[in-house]
This record gives sequence, structure tokens and C-alpha cells, in this order.
Amino acid sequence: MPKIAPAYRASPAPAYQDVIRDDPHPAPALFTAYSERAIDVPGVPRARYTSPEFAKAELERMWPRVWQVACREEQIPEPGDLVVYESPGASLLIVRGGDDEIRAFYNSCLHRGMRLCAQDTSVRQLTCPFHGFSWNLDGGLAHVPARWDFPQIEEAKFRLPQARVGRWGGFVFINRDPDAPPLHEYLANLPEHFADWPRESVYLARMIHKTMNANWKTCIEGFVESFHLAGIHSQALPFGGDASTQYDVWPGNETISRFLEPVGVQSDQYPRRLSEQEILDASLRTIFGDGPLPELPPGMRARSFIANATRAAMSAADGRDYSGLSDTEAADAMQYSVFPNFVLFRSLTYPYAYRFTPVRDDPHRAVFDFMIFRPKPQDGSPPPETEHVHLGPDDSFADCGALPPWLGQIYDQDSVGLAMCQAGLRDGGGADVIFSAYQEVRIRHLHETLTRYLAMPPLCPPPA
Ligand code: FES
Ligand SMILES: [Fe+2]
Repeated sequence: MPKIAPAYRASPAPAYQDVIRDDPHPAPALFTAYSERAIDVPGVPRARYTSPEFAKAELERMWPRVWQVACREEQIPEPGDLVVYESPGASLLIVRGGDDEIRAFYNSCLHRGMRLCAQDTSVRQLTCPFHGFSWNLDGGLAHVPARWDFPQIEEAKFRLPQARVGRWGGFVFINRDPDAPPLHEYLANLPEHFADWPRESVYLARMIHKTMNANWKTCIEGFVESFHLAGIHSQALPFGGDASTQYDVWPGNETISRFLEPVGVQSDQYPRRLSEQEILDASLRTIFGDGPLPELPPGMRARSFIANATRAAMSAADGRDYSGLSDTEAADAMQYSVFPNFVLFRSLTYPYAYRFTPVRDDPHRAVFDFMIFRPKPQDGSPPPETEHVHLGPDDSFADCGALPPWLGQIYDQDSVGLAMCQAGLRDGGGADVIFSAYQEVRIRHLHETLTRYLAMPPLCPPPA
């Protein structure tokens, strides 16, 4: 079988397309396609990750212009339900109105600037805790205390300023730029790639808020490549196809990139060739620990066994029929990112999304919001409320109870590794960091788009 070799894909490992070609449950066309685009960003200055001036430029020029995931629709099911989204450079209140519209208000009183809300809540009006000015759920003025003392206020004009809101897949996005393209344009090919994987059918069951000792870009860049498997997650080398991962960036598309990471394939960096049985054993040992191991039926590959087991386990867990699902969608890690800070999986085993936001005034820290989804109840009843877990820089994913311990261990390895990476960026020499041509093409993509935004003039909302 000829190896599919994109122009600058020179890895000696089997390409992803070679891995999936003989899957008994074949992949849909979405995953038998690949797209390459050479991106001329061989490296960037370290200051992009460490300098307060660079972080300020991002705050003034990039963050106010991009669409960002603020919350999920099911987090605000009723009129008056409200989520506080700390968008970099602007705190926003995401509120469902009596008319079912979702609006995003700047979280700052028009009197003397007080924060209107400190946390997620449910309200009938937006009332300032300082002197009691209040606004209706549509942003119109509701009450001015000592009205006689504010002759300058014109009721009709004294509305709470809003950011733009867009909705896709159950996610509520915001954008502070009145001139930004609409969300559907910004999302480019993402909706097409999730057309058969509707995210409206799941709910946000858990959200882990983890403070990371690393810049927001150090963080996201550490999650969009498989290249670090050998260094940080060496326990996965026997069954993680790092060098077989496919990375896609599309011509003319500056917001979306993806990788397709095969499961049940050994890393090219593992010191010897493993049998399919050995690959399966190593994979199951990592997940389940000691215990009896099943024997692979003759001729079956480890990845097929894993896909079958996943389909069966997920069907047992949520009562849905996954028997027609391809092996790629059942077992592999299909991961999409939306510039600048959102990552969404499209696979049965990874019902996850990530969001990374900078911590104000500190380029060396970020918040990693890890979202865990579950299928919505089939009887149409409202899903349970989202459970929030807060982790400090030294708290462990493995011990937090929200993830299986083996998976938590992987995220702990990432957290420690990314903090070390940030420390090296901060205290090391002055040379540029460099990116590989293929395996780090999504990082090149991120910086290419970021550079375009940084060339724009500062934007200083909120609008009057
Ligand atoms: S600052 Fe809000 S009512 Fe005074
Ligand atoms: Fe990792």
C-alpha cells in the first residue's frame, strides 16, 4: 500500500491515512481528507510568552476583536440566569432575557463603575450593589436611586453597553468588536465538521478551572501537538501514535486547525517494534492497572479492539447505539481548535473542550478551563447543573475526582511540564523559540493569525 506523504510530511512513521485505511468500521470522508498549508513562521521571540508589553498588545489589539466561548446555553436555561465571563480585558455578564435572547453586558455600573455581579447567579434585574442603580434583563434602565439628584441621565440612553453574542453547538460566544465578522464566518469550516456530531445534544457536566503557571499560549500550544508524547507522557509510547498524527490547516482559514491522533498504534520513538497484542496490553494496563488481559482475536488490530470496547462501554453507559460509528470517531483523538483559545474534541472517548485565558497583569499564568460533556437526558428533561472544580497551580487533576486517574495523570504531566517550559522561557537565553514544519504547524498557525491581529490599531471598548 503506498504511503500517503504530503509534501512536507517526511516522518518515517505510518501516516494517519495509512493507519485508518484498513479499519473495519471505515472513517467518514471528513477524516480521509487532509489539508496542508506551509506556514512561514519558523519561530517567534520568547517575549511573546513572557513580556508584559506583549500581553498588553494582545489585550488591546487581539482579545477585543475575537469570538470567544463565554459559556454554554444550558448554564443559563431560564430568564435571569447569568454567567460571569472574565474575558481578557473585560468582565462580561452573559444573561438570558425574558424574550429568550442571550445578551452580554459589560460588568460595570454606569454610575461609578462598580462590578454588577461577582459570580454566576439568577436575577430579576441587574442591580448594582453599591448604590442600587438597576437595569432590566434587556439592558434598559430600571431604577435610579435619588432620581432627583441625577438630572443628566436620559432614561432611553442610559442602557447597559453590550458585547456581541453568537451561538453555535450550544456554546455562547462573545465578541467585543462591532466590526468583527459574524460568528458563522469566523468559525469557517468548523460547523461542517461537526454537522454529524451535534454539540447541542450534550451538556456541560463538569468544568475544571485550573490555574496554570504558564502563559496562555504556552498552554494551548502544549495541547495541540502530539510531539511531546515521548518527553512528557512516555507511558503512552507503546500505544500512542505521535508521529502518525495528522495535522490539518486549510488554505484561507485563519481560525480553525485540527489534529487526528490515532490510538492503538505505537510511537515511532518506542525502542522496538511491538506486536498488536503488546500494544493492546500496554494500553489496557495504563487504563485499568493490573488484572487479566483479553486476548486479541486472530487478525484483529489493537485499535479495532479498543474501538469495539469503547463503543460497547459508551452504549452501556448512556443507552445510545454506537454500533455504526467509525473506529476513528470511536477511539481516536480528533481535536479542533478555534483561534485564539478554544479547543474542541470530536470523538466518543474525548467528550471534552478546553479554554485558556490569561491571568490579568501576569504573562506567566493562565486559567485552563477543562469542560467535560455528557449526553443530554433522552426524555427531554433539563440536564443537571454544571459541577465546578477549582484547582490551584499545585493541585492535581488525578486527585480531583473529575477525571479517571490515568487521564488525570496525563494532565498533571502537562501542567508540570508547561510550568517548566514557562520557567525556561522566562529565565533562559534570548534566542527565538522555533517550531517544526509539520507536527507544530498548528502553533505556526496560531502565531500567524495573532500577528495579523497585532498589526491592527488598539480597540478600546466598551462602546458608548
Ligand atoms: S456604582 Fe453602581 S450604583 Fe453607584
Ligand atoms: Fe500532553
